[in-house]
Amino acid sequence: MASILSAAQLAAFHADGYVVVRGMFDAEEVDLLRRAMEADPEVSSHLIDRLDSKGAATRIALWNRAGDSVYGMAARCERMVDTMAQLLGGPVYHFQSKLTAKEPFVGGAWEWHQDYGYWYYNGCLFPHLASCQIALDRSGMENGCLEMVRGSHHLGRIDHVPVPGEGQNVADPARMKDILARQELVPCELNPGDAVFFHGNTLHRSAQNRSEHRRWTLICCYNRVDNDTVIRDHDRYYVPLEAVPDSAVKAAGLRFASGDEHFTSRPFVPKVPAAV
Ligand code: SIN
Ligand code: MN
Repeated sequence: MASILSAAQLAAFHADGYVVVRGMFDAEEVDLLRRAMEADPEVSSHLIDRLDSKGAATRIALWNRAGDSVYGMAARCERMVDTMAQLLGGPVYHFQSKLTAKEPFVGGAWEWHQDYGYWYYNGCLFPHLASCQIALDRSGMENGCLEMVRGSHHLGRIDHVPVPGEGQNVADPARMKDILARQELVPCELNPGDAVFFHGNTLHRSAQNRSEHRRWTLICCYNRVDNDTVIRDHDRYYVPLEAVPDSAVKAAGLRFASGDEHFTSRPFVPKVPAAV
């Protein structure tokens, strides 16, 4: 097991629902990942605008399989896969990866949500899913870093309601008010190469980017193999994940997608009832 977490970090994840790992990818690796996101035609041709409640857009590109590209290697390398398996308590498969690109001055917000608030509707019966956000640029409060509600993965799945007219669902705002009155809100500021692992039920959001600094991140998401989807036509079902040595990220160089990644141009936004 090549998990990169210390015993204290593992305990922090289980207590808080997230844990930050500094320097998970080194400067050379993060440079390759950033350049691949900027230059891979598969990524640029699948970029879509995801609007927030005020109409500002985060640009995202989504793919369902981890392939042989350099970013596929980042999703498949042992330090990632073994850490996810340790956090989720069993073998995992790749569920989704995405670029979330907030451009300077105009980048949109992500409203309060749990990832399992969406993935429940892919037919995952248990919330045995987690994500790892890797900073490609500096991600701070000034340009819309991720913010977590500490311990919120212990709340269970919360109802989500549609953001009117937009392509996001948001955790029930009335419920959020009570949660935020009791639970701590923690910004996850990251430097390039840092990563934050977070549980599928951890409440998170990020603000708009009003700064002059771009904020691009890569997010790799995993499901526990024994939590394979009961819905078979969402392209999120179990496909074996072949882990690679950590050295495979650099060895890939600037290798782009090969066509096996299952890029999609439609974000999965389940139709949920409006708040009562
Ligand atoms: C997400 O929650 O999937 C994206 C959050 C972000 O990029 O700030
Ligand atoms: Mn999310």
